Amino acid sequence: MQLLPVLEGLHSAEAFSRSFLEAFFELVGEIEREPQRFQDALHGKVIATVFEEPSTRTRLSFESAAHRLGAGVITVADSSTTSAAKGESLRDSARIIGGYADLVVWRHPNDGASRLASQYAGVPLVNGGDGRLGHPTQTLLDLYTLHRRWGSLEGRTIGVMGDLLHGRTARSLAWALAVLGARVVILPGPGLDWETGFDRRICDRYDYRLRRVRHAVFQGWTGSDEARVLEPRGLVQGSLFSGDAPTLDTIDALYLTRLQAERGASDAAQGAFPGLKRSDLRDPLLSETLFLHPLPRREEIPDFVDEDPRAIYFEQARNGPLVRQAVFLALLRADQHPIPDLHPLPAGQGEHGLGDCPNKNCITCAEGMQPPWRVEGKARRIFLCAYCDSLLEVHYVGCRSTRRVHPAHSSQVLKIRPENLRPFLERDAAIEQGFTWGG
Ligand code: NCD
Repeated sequence: MQLLPVLEGLHSAEAFSRSFLEAFFELVGEIEREPQRFQDALHGKVIATVFEEPSTRTRLSFESAAHRLGAGVITVADSSTTSAAKGESLRDSARIIGGYADLVVWRHPNDGASRLASQYAGVPLVNGGDGRLGHPTQTLLDLYTLHRRWGSLEGRTIGVMGDLLHGRTARSLAWALAVLGARVVILPGPGLDWETGFDRRICDRYDYRLRRVRHAVFQGWTGSDEARVLEPRGLVQGSLFSGDAPTLDTIDALYLTRLQAERGASDAAQGAFPGLKRSDLRDPLLSETLFLHPLPRREEIPDFVDEDPRAIYFEQARNGPLVRQAVFLALLRADQHPIPDLHPLPAGQGEHGLGDCPNKNCITCAEGMQPPWRVEGKARRIFLCAYCDSLLEVHYVGCRSTRRVHPAHSSQVLKIRPENLRPFLERDAAIEQGFTWGG
């Protein structure tokens, strides 16, 4: 089967670069200052919004953005009314809907759905949230809200709190904060931390490191007075995981998230779930802290916080249409608003034949496919599902050029050029394919 090329779109915050984000904020600022200049910018274009999960803010702000630019909108707000309910694959739905619109915004319950749909839609596709994997336009509006207050985010300290395991907004935000040189304090609810390897990937990609810090206020949130911090290497000279963790002296912003019960988080965890208390608002650590939340909230932000000048989550939500106007312009009017250095991941590319994705919520499992795997990091034995980013550690690695296969931990593997890497789960599989044992 011939795959369509992956067209420009917005699937993952991993695609952001500093130059992209800076140019993007500039464009949002222009739209905010002179909205009338853009009111016909997308006249004659049709935008489809396909939401296969509940949404208030995201869908309506995308649609508001499209109308404000003069585009027409077609929408699916309830997937039980579509052919998905008759068992149509995402790939077929993407082919069809892509034929009816100039750009598609898609929200889907499976991890990696955006990358897969983008290969078939034939028009730019914007991820409106896919499973627990990513929500890049939410990140853009989170960042724009902070950028408007502070200018540069470099060196700022931002806490991410709540259901980090099942939520997609904090995961996307963490990637982007690392692009901008900010520090991320990781404050998960009990049992709700990121999957193993996630923060390590950020360290590898952006030359960040992990450190521990301490503060008494963390105790009431996470059950421990210590927290991990992701920070640019060289920002602070201090102990890594040895010795006593230093006390954190400031948090510039705290990004709260809700318990994602619909993604498998136990509702029972709500009792011990981190949230703001009256006493937190008086703690000196939070005296200048801005409170953000992608919304909807549950009990993590009680109503009494709303009147506090540090609470900016409603301002954040109001930035949604503006930011999404800029997303449409960047993708559909790139001639006038060039997109610097935005590199969508090459979905669909990578090593085949390594079996099913172990993540049952991966879009490839839902579609009955085996994913391709792409190599990650310097060690060359960690591969990621090209759709949902699940990790696969391989045991043997071959070289396509020498046709020799080595144990994955062998120093020989480090010498293989990335384009010649050939991973194997079993040694016999390599021998069967004509590789000789290199030890
Ligand atoms: C978020 C989402 O859908 O991931 N909501 C949103 O887009 N504003 C966060 C959430 O639902 O908790």
